[in-house]
Amino acid sequence: MPARMMKATFLFLLSLSCLVVFVQCYGGRNFDPLKNLIRADRLKERLIDTSTLENSESEYSPVYVAPQDGLKAADKIESLPGQPNGALFDQYSGYVTVDPNAGRALFYYFTESPQNSSTKPLVLWLNGGPGCSSFGNGAMMELGPYRVHSDGETLQQNEYAWNNAANILFLESPAGVGFSYSNTTSDYNLSGDKRTAEDSYTFLVNWLERFPEYKTRDFFLTGESYAGHYVPQLAQLILQNNKNTNQTVINLKGIAVSLY
Ligand SMILES: *[C@@H]1O[C@H](CO)[C@@H](O)[C@H](O)[C@H]1NC(C)=O
Ligand SMILES: *[C@@H]1O[C@H](CO)[C@@H](O)[C@H](O)[C@H]1NC(C)=O
Ligand SMILES: *[C@@H]1O[C@H](CO)[C@@H](O)[C@H](O)[C@H]1NC(C)=O
Ligand SMILES: *[C@@H]1O[C@H](CO)[C@@H](O)[C@H](O)[C@H]1NC(C)=O
Repeated sequence: MPARMMKATFLFLLSLSCLVVFVQCYGGRNFDPLKNLIRADRLKERLIDTSTLENSESEYSPVYVAPQDGLKAADKIESLPGQPNGALFDQYSGYVTVDPNAGRALFYYFTESPQNSSTKPLVLWLNGGPGCSSFGNGAMMELGPYRVHSDGETLQQNEYAWNNAANILFLESPAGVGFSYSNTTSDYNLSGDKRTAEDSYTFLVNWLERFPEYKTRDFFLTGESYAGHYVPQLAQLILQNNKNTNQTVINLKGIAVSLY
């Protein structure tokens, strides 16, 4: 059934507790975005109807898609420096080129679930800022499988890691943040929400070519702080492109943002 014919709705979970979006990275000992997110009395549900999107006559420009053969295996992490022995899950990291002419590539860190990863959903996590690293901040200080010990050299398991519940994809966005970069310096002057969404979309389409087993998996978009801009704008682009191509290019099921 064509995606545009589906009465697709998705859940928008919005933490109303903090209405101000701070231009800072948050993290640290007592910081727990998941707890903030799921605290039921602070959540508001809203249904968004895709019929509010522009109709499918609007122009769709196909995105850059490169062959990804062999890159998944090359991205596999055997072990992180200082990692405790015996990781029970697979982890990957690497670059996905989003603009070959400019030489712009986004860095990701992907942690699969230790159990039943093949039936668990795929979740994209974005830190905010703008300028916060999803690897340094989100993965290593907040919801990733490891935290850095106070020695600064070894890792410890994070009991509350989100990959216990889903396969978590940390994306450093836009280019210039964390390990994501561009070979065209003037690109950094041209950053903005629109291109951030477009690059993230191109990243996802190519990443799903690299990890094709996730193409039909339920997909959720989430993040915190300035990702309160990134997440809904990327969601809108995903739904718009699904509609314009008459295909579920990305199987988006829901979004959740903590505006911490
Ligand atoms: C950026 O330039 C380096 C050095 O020439 C090259 O190895 C790399 O592949 C380029 N990145 C992209 C995304 O084209
Ligand atoms: C994994 O899947 C099996 C079969 O559906 C189920 O019995 C088991 O409880 C699941 N384990 C976890 C940790 O989700
Ligand atoms: C970026 O913008 C700054 C401030 O407008 C300007 O000084 C600089 O030359 C620009 N850099 C590039 C590479 O375009
Ligand atoms: C999607 O479907 C509409 C209506 O059937 C059609 O006009 C349009 O050309 C299709 N677009 C693509 C990209 O197949």
